[in-house]
Amino acid sequence: MAAALPPNAIVAVIGAGAMGAGIAQLAATHGHRVQLHDMRFGATDAAKKAIGDALGKQVAKGRLTAADADAALQRIATVVTLADTCIASLVVEAIVEDLGAKRELFANLENVVAPECILASNTSSLSITALGTGLKHPGRVVGMHFFNPVPLMPLVEVVTGLATDPRVAETTFATAAAWGKTPVHAASTPGFIVNRCARPFYGEALRLVAERAADPATIDAVMREAGGFRMGPFELMDLIGHDVNLAVTKSVWEASFHDPRFTPSALQQELVAAGFLGRKSGRGFYAYAPGAAPPAPRTEPHGPRPARVVIHGDPGITAQLAPRFVAAAVAVERAAADSRLGGTALRVLGAGGEGWLVPSDGRTATARAVASGIRDLVVFDLALDYAKATRLAVARADTCSDAAFAAAVGALQAAGFAVSRLDDVPGLVVLRTVAMLVNEAADAVVQGVAVAVAVDLALEKGVNYPRGPFAWADAIGVGTVRNALAHLATHYGEDRYRMSPLIARRALTGEKLGG
Ligand code: NAI
Repeated sequence: MAAALPPNAIVAVIGAGAMGAGIAQLAATHGHRVQLHDMRFGATDAAKKAIGDALGKQVAKGRLTAADADAALQRIATVVTLADTCIASLVVEAIVEDLGAKRELFANLENVVAPECILASNTSSLSITALGTGLKHPGRVVGMHFFNPVPLMPLVEVVTGLATDPRVAETTFATAAAWGKTPVHAASTPGFIVNRCARPFYGEALRLVAERAADPATIDAVMREAGGFRMGPFELMDLIGHDVNLAVTKSVWEASFHDPRFTPSALQQELVAAGFLGRKSGRGFYAYAPGAAPPAPRTEPHGPRPARVVIHGDPGITAQLAPRFVAAAVAVERAAADSRLGGTALRVLGAGGEGWLVPSDGRTATARAVASGIRDLVVFDLALDYAKATRLAVARADTCSDAAFAAAVGALQAAGFAVSRLDDVPGLVVLRTVAMLVNEAADAVVQGVAVAVAVDLALEKGVNYPRGPFAWADAIGVGTVRNALAHLATHYGEDRYRMSPLIARRALTGEKLGG
């Protein structure tokens, strides 16, 4: 394991935009002298002012002493020419996202810095291998992918190209750790870890809206209140900006030779065409004008209170539902698995009617009703934690009577859930998204992009997921993921839902996916 660069090593940052300023601030607060360069007149001074303001806020919050903030700012020198960076041990570039510009910069830097100086790129989409091509010492080129805003976001993807010297990657990794970040190793592949493995979070949600299965506000509410995600996909895309989000999807899709897993959404393309870029333009999926109505999720009206609920079969991951019924003074009985449905099934009995509630396995409610011969069937979605979730998505079989649907909804409401009905789509919202997140993560591991622990860490720290995909798979069982994907693939008949070979293999033995 290589050591981090010592604090007396000089760090040069090229490009003084949002990212470059953050990287300069980070390195300076960890004791490095920083040389900040930008080709645009006034950019470095503006960046230094922004860094001063950011450090001032840290002081106001008591996270930094005024003396330390002042010393950090003093350590940042703005330099006019690249030649001024000749004594740097590490150069981090955060210039425009353009392969030609970055290559030219690295070629020029090679004429300036010492041969052992590390050339790191903050690119979020370009191949690190391609960035090193044609250089005298391509082994020193490495990806150091920070997340925005740099001082706050803990993750750094340390990206290794085909020619990257492993010691360079190790030194970069150790340096990011010394700067208080959570580094993960990733191979130079489209989207690295986060921008690849997070695609289904947006892609499945966009697809559901395109299929008119639900509206954005309902999907967002379900993802937050059942899935435990801090933000729903639509509010997050509105925050990121649809131009940026679409560009990332397109770049991963194009770099993977149009793998249908990453097919961009025509819906999002239309938003970009209209200039509805999200918060920054005042309108995206939601309106942000002053006085605009807040998004309202679709929530079912109150159904009747159940007389009792019979839980058939092993409740598995839904075990926390029973205590919620009991707490609401609803009688709960246990019974053997119903041979027509198998697995877990809840039979709701009430004065007005009787209905069946089953956890989604990736089939539609109608498919399960037809397969089981139980017409009055309602499917409910996955939750991060059935003890704490405040909302659940459901889908009603086409054969289900109004009274049975009301009984099923009433039971979930009695247990304290707001209920959002979706059209009868396979895998609803949370299960389908989680299954596809796990699928992408599994393929990233199969293809040597990163190890499972790194993928989980990257998605927890880079995009704030409540748990990484492998932890999700362990919690719900790899068989649940396998079934959901298999059913999605059957339903849609598209290569998009093809199963990662790792999931297919591990589901046979029940071995942990990340093990
Ligand atoms: P930005 O547009 O805010 O700043 C880029 C700066 O680089 C500008 O000040 C520009 O004048 C300067 N510049 C452009 N070409 C230059 C050159 N040849 N030599 C010197 N300076 C040059 O861009 P931002 O958002 O800071 O992004 C920079 C890099 O970081 C890009 O590669 C981007 O993909 C990557 N990145 C951006 C993230 C974000 O959320 N903004 C997140 C992670 C990576």
